[in-house]
Amino acid sequence: MKILSGNPYIKRDNKKVLLDLIPIDEILNLSKTPIMIFLENRIRDNVNSFKSVFGEVFENFEGFYSFKANFLPEICKIICSQEIGAEIIGLPELKLALKIGFPENKILVGGPYLPYELIKESVKNKVREIIVYNLNDLDKINAVAKEKNIVQNICLRINSQKYASKLGIILDDKILLRLDEKTNKLHHINIVSILSHYTTQMNNMEQFKKNIITVGDALKKLTQIGINIKNINLGGGFPEATIMPQKQLRKLALGLKTTLENLHIDYEKIYFEPGRYFVGDAGLFITEVINIIDDRWIFLNIGNHICPKFARCSLRFYNATQIDKVHKYKTNIAGIIPSDQDVLAKDYFFTEKLKEGDVVIVTNVGAYTLTFSNRFPYALPHIFLIKDHDITPIFSPSINHDFTLN
Ligand SMILES: Cc1ncc(COP(=O)(O)O)c(C=O)c1O
Repeated sequence: MKILSGNPYIKRDNKKVLLDLIPIDEILNLSKTPIMIFLENRIRDNVNSFKSVFGEVFENFEGFYSFKANFLPEICKIICSQEIGAEIIGLPELKLALKIGFPENKILVGGPYLPYELIKESVKNKVREIIVYNLNDLDKINAVAKEKNIVQNICLRINSQKYASKLGIILDDKILLRLDEKTNKLHHINIVSILSHYTTQMNNMEQFKKNIITVGDALKKLTQIGINIKNINLGGGFPEATIMPQKQLRKLALGLKTTLENLHIDYEKIYFEPGRYFVGDAGLFITEVINIIDDRWIFLNIGNHICPKFARCSLRFYNATQIDKVHKYKTNIAGIIPSDQDVLAKDYFFTEKLKEGDVVIVTNVGAYTLTFSNRFPYALPHIFLIKDHDITPIFSPSINHDFTLN
């Protein structure tokens, strides 16, 4: 058996493709393409791998799954059962996290937009921390916490200083002065953590180091105004687990620890908020070639409406119908949106013969594809969850209509 896409749950045996223990033909009998598949065992392995690496390297590590990577309830339930916390940005996600059973003290809520209802529900439910991107939100949180007569723990999102990032607080003199005034005045908030999330798909140590340097600078400035931060949160940004296998992840974790030590950064707890690492390579599309034109252009029956560039996935394509044939002929792959911009890949190594109706597997699509998908008027795919020999429908367009959270 040969592993495809570096994923032990996608294999080929001569002419047959297996997803976990299920032959792809069995799946094709259940629904027409496009079909989306999630591999439960892969999610569990990724979470275990992350937890064991960071748990070994750091004594005081905690992980929070970034719901926005994939908020399908069945996916979040798997992660919840692995005893990981939740990092969420909005009320629909908060309701889902609580319903699924994430413990309140393992939920971080935060984002650039904190409507009153979200603050209210977060405070009421005693979430672990509210993450603030904008100082004005401190007053709003303080007011709600005062009503409930509690002190709410706060995490400050620091601007990672990457390019011209607009997200998070830049601790210049003016802002520090305002923060100092607020902390002296607002007695129902307690700033305990800072967060700096650098970017997505980080696969070299340098990017992670830059993030830590930002954190170190911020800690010094905050100490000067009497704010002593306990916990540091380095966000997410890890690539798909197939792109960063466990050995490399361990090297990275050790590098992070050394960088923190070299910069004399002390902390009680260190948090990470992976999204893509847990679910990215656990998702795949089963699609079909629906047209072939000159210059080896093939069209698949998915496109940027459901597999968007915005999702920044490390896409890999396999011709499942000709899986025994070498994939070494440059091919261009287009989607079905009637726009020349709908290109999924250019000069991708694929089979020599291109045939209409060939089944094509697109891997590494578990994170952010559904999140960034749009309302282009094509039907949504059927979504199945696979574990060992079991296949469970988790989304049917005709029954569930939409996967938006409300
Ligand atoms: C603050 C924060 N944490 C975590 C994540 C998750 O990132 P990733 O899925 O790349 O691990 C994001 C993604 O944008 C983020 O902004």
